[in-house]
Amino acid sequence: MRIILLGAPGAGKGTQAQAICDHLNIPQISTGDMLRGEIKSGSDLGNQAKSIMDAGKLVDDELIIKLVTKRINVNDCKNGYLFDGFPRTIPQAQSLRLANIQIDLILNIIVDEADIVNRITGRRVHPASGRTYHVEYNPPKMPEKDDVTGDDLIQRDDDTEETVRKRLSVYHEQTEPLISFYKAWKQENDEAPKFIDVPGIGNISEISQRIIASIEQNQ
Ligand code: AP5
Repeated sequence: MRIILLGAPGAGKGTQAQAICDHLNIPQISTGDMLRGEIKSGSDLGNQAKSIMDAGKLVDDELIIKLVTKRINVNDCKNGYLFDGFPRTIPQAQSLRLANIQIDLILNIIVDEADIVNRITGRRVHPASGRTYHVEYNPPKMPEKDDVTGDDLIQRDDDTEETVRKRLSVYHEQTEPLISFYKAWKQENDEAPKFIDVPGIGNISEISQRIIASIEQNQ
């Protein structure tokens, strides 16, 4: 299956992506993780992206489309994949459509803004694996340590309250219009991807079960 996870920053896309990908045995393609990998490696692309990401803005569409196109041609994507954080703008969504890249399902995770700010400012990340935790809602077994490797957890540079507010306004301006884009496409053409709104409030595993049930109904 080819799935897109939509949702505001902090809606739980990365958290739910892990459960969905384990269940379907498909790779998670997170453009945010890919960009953070580029920053860590010190590449030109990473150096260009760092200040944009730290300011809560979006990286150039053309650059993102190139990264994603290269990634989906890797062998592990043969049986499907899950996009987490892509597409993020109408031009990114148009690029998929124009390239005839068929998407089966779009899951749009919905969470209130007040919850989002709490979630993001309490998030901790294991950079090597992308595993995410929350100091209160999903704490690691040992404070500030990854459950699997015992490595130190970090707080992302763009997870300050000020940057979260900027990221939310960018989301409303540039990403939220994708909801109407995909709903309108489905109304005009039944071949368009199925679109499902998923309430993202509640226990993480309950939300995963809800999402997996929706996927099974739509397989
Ligand atoms: P990216 O890394 O994609 O960040 P984001 O979309 O802002 O999403 P987040 O990773 O912040 O949140 P999430 O929804 O994955 O939430 P999570 O599961 O971690 O992008 C970062 C930047 O890269 C962008 O700002 C942009 O600059 C650039 N970029 C990336 N893609 C791009 C693109 N396509 N085009 C242009 N630029 C791009 O959960 C958050 C927290 O909540 C965690 O602590 C988690 O434990 C907790 N949590 C999750 N679920 C629950 C629950 N049910 N109850 C309580 N807590 C929960």
